[in-house]
Amino acid sequence: MTTLLAFSGSLRADSFNTRLIHALGVLAPEGTTVIQFDISELPFYNQDLDADTVPEIVAALRAAIAEVDGVVIATPEYNHTYSAVTKNLIDWASRPFMKGPIIGKRSMVVAAGPGPGGGVHALEATSTLLQLLGGTVVAQVGVAGVHEKLKAESGVVTDEALAQQLRDGLAAF
Ligand SMILES: Cc1cc2nc3c(=O)[nH]c(=O)nc-3n(C[C@H](O)[C@H](O)[C@H](O)COP(=O)(O)O)c2cc1C
Repeated sequence: MTTLLAFSGSLRADSFNTRLIHALGVLAPEGTTVIQFDISELPFYNQDLDADTVPEIVAALRAAIAEVDGVVIATPEYNHTYSAVTKNLIDWASRPFMKGPIIGKRSMVVAAGPGPGGGVHALEATSTLLQLLGGTVVAQVGVAGVHEKLKAESGVVTDEALAQQLRDGLAAF
């Protein structure tokens, strides 16, 4: 059994990255469970909040990451890198110093956008960051023209090549 925790680095209600995260449950191979974790209420990282007692959502986030076999992060590309929401997630999950649950974790990185670039800079920057934190990136999926590859609002991947890439990525854990 493999259990994965999936995050979207976009807060936008109609986010393509969030829709892709929603689609993973159906695409996961037998024996793999994908749990979505909503980080829209995660506060902006502040070391003053990161004390002996942390905000409830931070405690829940850290415990959830510690328990699973790996994480999936789907991030938008903003100005040629990951979104601030994605970085905020990683910052919270990287602490306490040297003991943060994201350290050494296996991950799959997805970067999706409607443009022709497929979020390649965000994909590379997020992967590099997770590797610098000691993790292994088991799969990278950049998605160009994502608006043509998903059903509107339903989180269903209509593009078979993309669906297969996501299945393969999940299987790589
Ligand atoms: C501030 C900002 C910067 C962006 N920069 C890039 C970029 O550098 N490269 C790119 O391909 N798309 C860029 N985009 C387009 C986003 O990737 C696009 O809006 C995408 O749909 C956002 O992801 P979401 O649908 O999950 O919210 C940018 C969008 C915003 C709002």
